[in-house]
Amino acid sequence: MSQSNTNDFIVIKAKEDGVSVIGLTRGTDTRFHHSEKLDRGEVMIAQFTEHTSAIKIRGKALIQSSHGEMETD
Ligand code: TRP
Repeated sequence: MSQSNTNDFIVIKAKEDGVSVIGLTRGTDTRFHHSEKLDRGEVMIAQFTEHTSAIKIRGKALIQSSHGEMETD
């Protein structure tokens, strides 16, 4: 994997209470390995790592990454 992939990080800002940021495992088995709850206004800065291949966000949030900015509905 190239360095730029592993160094990438995303910013998640919760727009309501109880937003979940869920990390999914890298490898043959794709499953939840971590769940973080954010309340309104809280920010999480997360990276894709050796252990984390995907991040699922549940609830209203603003997400910034190198791909741009988006909001969950
Ligand atoms: N220990 C996890 C890891 O290194 C922590 C983590 C990294 C994480 N990125 C995440 C957890 C994104 C949830 C969402 O992979």
